Amino acid sequence: MKVAVLFGGTGEERDVSIASAAAVIPALRRSGHQVLPVDTVFGAIAPGDEPRILIREVGENPPADVGLGLVSRGTIPVRIPSEVRDCDVVFLALHGGSGEDGRIQALLDLAEVPYTGSGPLASGLAMDKIVSKTLLRSAGLPTPDWLTDEADAMAVEESLGFPVVVKPSAQGSTVGLTLVREAVDLGNAISEAARYGHVMIEQLIAGRELTVGVFDGMALAVGEVMVDSEEVFSYEAKYQPNAVSEIFPAELPTELAQSIRTAAVQAHDVHRLSGYSRTDFRLDDHGKAWIIETNSLPGLTSTSLFPQSAAAAGLSFDEVCDRICRLAVT
Ligand code: DAL
Ligand code: MG
Repeated sequence: MKVAVLFGGTGEERDVSIASAAAVIPALRRSGHQVLPVDTVFGAIAPGDEPRILIREVGENPPADVGLGLVSRGTIPVRIPSEVRDCDVVFLALHGGSGEDGRIQALLDLAEVPYTGSGPLASGLAMDKIVSKTLLRSAGLPTPDWLTDEADAMAVEESLGFPVVVKPSAQGSTVGLTLVREAVDLGNAISEAARYGHVMIEQLIAGRELTVGVFDGMALAVGEVMVDSEEVFSYEAKYQPNAVSEIFPAELPTELAQSIRTAAVQAHDVHRLSGYSRTDFRLDDHGKAWIIETNSLPGLTSTSLFPQSAAAAGLSFDEVCDRICRLAVT
């Protein structure tokens, strides 16, 4: 197939997206696909080339600007060149912002170009954590209690109790997220998260950090990220190789692993997602698994969790990328 790989974008997860593309492009080539890499900031197709921006390791923090040293993030339009229309499928190696929230998906729908992953509505539902958690709750799936940024410290203390996790409602990779242990730190954390839009204040579930991919309607292997039970899985820990241990499959009783896999498929379906997704959980000390979020375009970098969840279920990275494309055109 002729596959345009869209990557980059203008958001905070730009580097992560470049790293995903840098893994996906050679994998697609190994499966015999003709690949057109497209950095959506440049709108450029460079057949035969790797992503046009230097492929670099993802930094310890999200980049303060898009890393081009030219203009600030908000002023850069996304450019998708017309040659993409001649491709059989667009592989979305984008994360966050317009690449993950349904806007690019809607554009491609209107241009009648098939693309990988989920459609505009599903993408939007999964991207906004407040909307997503409302949906999960209405489907009877457990997700930690939350409040919006209108809540003051007293309300947080009364209905959630500290510590809480303050996060932007529609961001990824823990960007803008703060773990708040005391009321006095709440205001700053809300201001930090508010830089990215609506804010959610979520009860911290102390416990084990688990994750599971869903692929073509089936749950893959449950994995565990070995973060401290009262900490969060930070941006740095996500993208610095070997920063934390990740164990696939997680050591769990069979029945519990199966119920978590079932919940991941339910979460995928509740959001009306297609193709693939990854749902993250916290397992509390009583053995209850809480859904933290469902990602419609999970990272596909060399340290990412979705490929590890697939590998532990017997699917190689090359097979995953190939089948993600094929799912998009069936
Ligand atoms: N937002 C990152 C890429 C993830 O969910 O893996
Ligand atoms: Mg996420």
